[in-house]
Amino acid sequence: MARARNLPALVVHGGAGNAGPGAERPERRRGMMAAIRLGANILRAKGSALEAVVATVTALEDHPLFNAGYGSLLNSEGNVEMDASVMFAEPFSDSTRRGKRSDRTHSHDADYTVSAGAVAVVSRVRNPIMLARAVMENSPHILMAGPGAENFARKAGIRLVRPEEMVTERARERWRARKQQAGMLESQAAARAAIGHGTVGAVAVDLHGAIAAATSTGGVPGKLFGRVGDSALIGAGTFAHAFGAASATGQGEAIILTALCREAVLSLADGAPQAVARAAIAEMIDATGAEAGIILIDRRGRIGYAHNAASMQVARYDPAGGVQHLWLAPIATARRP
Ligand code: GLY
Repeated sequence: MARARNLPALVVHGGAGNAGPGAERPERRRGMMAAIRLGANILRAKGSALEAVVATVTALEDHPLFNAGYGSLLNSEGNVEMDASVMFAEPFSDSTRRGKRSDRTHSHDADYTVSAGAVAVVSRVRNPIMLARAVMENSPHILMAGPGAENFARKAGIRLVRPEEMVTERARERWRARKQQAGMLESQAAARAAIGHGTVGAVAVDLHGAIAAATSTGGVPGKLFGRVGDSALIGAGTFAHAFGAASATGQGEAIILTALCREAVLSLADGAPQAVARAAIAEMIDATGAEAGIILIDRRGRIGYAHNAASMQVARYDPAGGVQHLWLAPIATARRP
């Protein structure tokens, strides 16, 4: 007999990285709880997983203590360049069969249609996750970048802002301190050694069985002008599929190399989310030695998360446990011999 589902369900992360100033922790926790409550309320009202993850990530983008949207880290030139992506796996309905599908959507198994949208190196939108959704829903493409993505935003009715409006005083101070301290990162080895804090992401399953993932970031500290990270790349920082959904945080180059989210979601065919999340991070460590974290949900609403950084903040919602917040301890970081 099939086991009872615990739906709807939602998991959110606020980034894996260094622990950050202790004084900011209570406010980071409040910001995360406010964001997950928005998403949970949408799901409780029978809303869609897509609406829930986008609303949750939008709230975190608007919060200055998270490295996404307003509050993003600055690149080597001292500017904001943001990445975001969203993916949606929808059970087939009669309307889907009647022709809603396009060349950007396809069936991942007999019962689901998937679609995705992403933006990279954008500086002039307040909420990159909304632009990623607009790319998914209103363009023939999946990934748009830079000025072209911003031009598309205007046409999609998304207000453009001046890039300076996205820079917080906190981000500017951190950039100055970093510049003075060590110079900006120029080598891949140095880039791998650094890890930011505060990329945001959410994964959800709704009462109709639809599954969604969303991720948004300002990138890693000291990133070079024009660098694109995993959060813009479907399969790396974000993935949703008939089996479940994932969102990643941490060193984007390692997440891209290991196609972390796609590998993890496909592994849900044979494993429970918590075991799969731990194995995915262990394999990422083995392959790259970098630091990253992942949140996972399967189609039954079961949840998993793991990371190997100093700290990772998550919040979760399901009918059995309600809304909860956690600071997660890392898994063991030793590389296999
Ligand atoms: N994971 C965020 C980034 O590497 O840009």
